[in-house]
Amino acid sequence: MADDSASLSGQLAATTLHDAVSSSDVAKAEFSDRVPIRSIVSRPDGGVGLAGHRVRIGGWVKTGRKADKDAFAFLELNDGSCPANLQVIVDASVSDLSPLVPTGTCIAVDGVLKLPPSGTKQKVELRVEKVVHVGPVDPAKYPLPKTRLTLEFLRDFVHLRPRTNTISAVARIRNALAYATHTFFQKHGFLYVHTPIITTSDCEGAGEMFQVTTLISEADKLEKDLIKNPPPSAADIEAAQLLVKEKGEIVAQLKSAKAKKEDINASVAELKKEKENLSKLEERSKLKPGIPKKDGKIDYGLDFFARQAFLTVSGQLQVESYACCLSSVYTFGPTFRAEHSHTSRHLAEFWMVEPEIAFAELKDDMNCAEAYVRFLCQWLLDNCLDDMEFMADKFDKTCIERLRMVASTPFERISYTEAVELLEEAVKGGRKFENKVEWGIDLASEHERYLTEVKFQKPVIVYNYPKDIKAFYMRLNDDSKTVAAMDVLVPKVGELIGGSQREERYDVIQQRIKDMELPIEPYEWYLDLRRYGTVKHCGFGLGFERMLLFATGIENIRDVIPFPRYPGRADL
Ligand code: 4AD
Ligand code: MG
Repeated sequence: MADDSASLSGQLAATTLHDAVSSSDVAKAEFSDRVPIRSIVSRPDGGVGLAGHRVRIGGWVKTGRKADKDAFAFLELNDGSCPANLQVIVDASVSDLSPLVPTGTCIAVDGVLKLPPSGTKQKVELRVEKVVHVGPVDPAKYPLPKTRLTLEFLRDFVHLRPRTNTISAVARIRNALAYATHTFFQKHGFLYVHTPIITTSDCEGAGEMFQVTTLISEADKLEKDLIKNPPPSAADIEAAQLLVKEKGEIVAQLKSAKAKKEDINASVAELKKEKENLSKLEERSKLKPGIPKKDGKIDYGLDFFARQAFLTVSGQLQVESYACCLSSVYTFGPTFRAEHSHTSRHLAEFWMVEPEIAFAELKDDMNCAEAYVRFLCQWLLDNCLDDMEFMADKFDKTCIERLRMVASTPFERISYTEAVELLEEAVKGGRKFENKVEWGIDLASEHERYLTEVKFQKPVIVYNYPKDIKAFYMRLNDDSKTVAAMDVLVPKVGELIGGSQREERYDVIQQRIKDMELPIEPYEWYLDLRRYGTVKHCGFGLGFERMLLFATGIENIRDVIPFPRYPGRADL
C-alpha cells in the first residue's frame, strides 16, 4: 500500500505542475528511463531540494558552449516537459565536447544535481558523469539556428518547429486546452461522441466542402494501364468471336457424332475458355480514359462510396442524432472547409468542439458557452502559467490579464439588432469601417472586434441574427425574421463560437431547407430526428485554434495548429 501511494504521488509530480513535490524524491518519467526536466526545475524550490541526487536526463541542446579553454561545456537542455531548460555541465574528461554543443543536438546523460555557485540564475545544475546518447547535428546544415526566427520562416519547417520555445509552448497550451475541454464536459455529464470525418451531408449548406473521391486516382490508373496494355482492337474481338464459333461447332459435331464423354467435356471446357476470353476482351474494349460519366454527368455510382462524399465541415448534424437520445453530448474533432480565405483567422483544416444539449434553449446554450470559455481560461491560469508567462513575455503582454478578466467577468449579451444599432452609433461618432453597417449584414470581423475590444472590452454574445445570413437548422423566432443563433465574440479574435437553438419543428425546418434551395434527400435522416420524438435542443461550435489565438496572443492561426493547412499549403 505504502509503495502504491508513493508511486502515485510520483506520477502526479511528474505530470502536474502545481502538485510538484518539495520532498527530496525525484519523479521519474513514466515509460521512459529518465527524469523529466519539469520534475526538477518546476518544483516550488526550483530543484534545490534535489541537490545530490543522481539522475538520467534526456533532451535537445538549446545552446551549448565550451568554456575554460575547452575544459568543459555548458549546455542548456530542454526536453519539452516545461518551458525551462536545465543547465548541464560536461567535463572534457567525460566526453568529447565538440559533438555536444551544436544547437539541436540530442543527448542523454547521467549525472549528479548540484547547487551552482551563488550569483548564477540557475537554482540547480547537472554535473555529467556519463554521456549515454548523442544524436548529433551538423550546424552548417541544421535549418533552425540559435538566432531568433520568425514564425513565418518556421512555417517552412513544420516538422522541426516544435523544437522552438514558442511552438513547444503552444503545443503544451493546446494540450492543456484539450484536456480542459474533456474535463469540463465530462464534469457536466456530457458524453463524448465520435462523429464521422467523411460525410454525405453539408452541415452549413455553404458548399465549402472538400470532396472525397477515388474516381480521379482510378482514372489516372486506368489511363496508365491503357497506355501499357492498349485495349483490344475490333479485329482482336472478331478473331476471338471466330474462335468461339469454331469451338462451338466442334462441340456440336462431337455431340452429334455421340463421341466419348471425356472428349465432349474437353471441347466444352475449351469453348468456355474462349467465351471467357471474348467477354474479357469485350469488357476491356469498353474502357475509356477519364472520369466515368452517365447522362452527361459524373457517375458517382462508380465512386468509392457509390455516391458523392465529402470531408465534414462540422460534426453537428450527426452529434444531434446522439443528443436526441443521450441528451447531453459533445464531439471534438477535425473539420474542413474549402474556403479560399487567406486570413490570419481561417484554416482549411481546424478542430472544433461541439456540444449539443437536449431539453435546452438558446439561453442554456449561451450559459454553457460562457461557462466553458471561462473554465478554459481559469484552467490555463491554474495549469499553464509558466507557458503563459513565456507568451506574455514574447508575444502579448496582456494575455494573462485577458485570461484573468475573462475567467472572472460575466459576458455581455446583446441582440443582433442592438449590435447593429451600436455599430451605427459608432459610425455616426466617426468610426470608420470598411464594410457597410445596416440591419441584415453578416457582421464582419472588424465589427465583431469593435464590439468586443472597444465597446465592451470583454466577451460579447450576440444573439438572434437575421435568418437569411444563418444556416437552415437554426430555430426560427416568432418574428419570422430572425433565428435563435448566437456568436461569442472575444477580444483579439472576434468570433470564437457559433451556435444556435435548433429548429425542432418538422414543418418549419423542411420549409427552411426548401427556401434555401438545398437538396432535401441528403437531409432526410436529419428530418427523422424531427419526425420521431423531436425535442428542443441547442448546441455550438468552438473553433479550437481561435481559442488558442485568444489565449496566447499569437497573431496567425497557422502557428497554433501543429500542421497547418491553408490554400496552397499542406506540408507533410
Ligand atoms: O460558426 P461555425 O461555422 O458553426 C458551425 O460549424 C456549427 N455547425 C457549430 C455548431 O453549432 N455545432 O463554426 C464554429 C466556429 C467558429 O465560431 C470559429 O471559431 C471556427 O469554428 N471556425 C474556424 N476556425 C478556423 N478556420 C476556419 N476556416 C473556421 N471556420 C469556423
Ligand atoms: Mg459562424
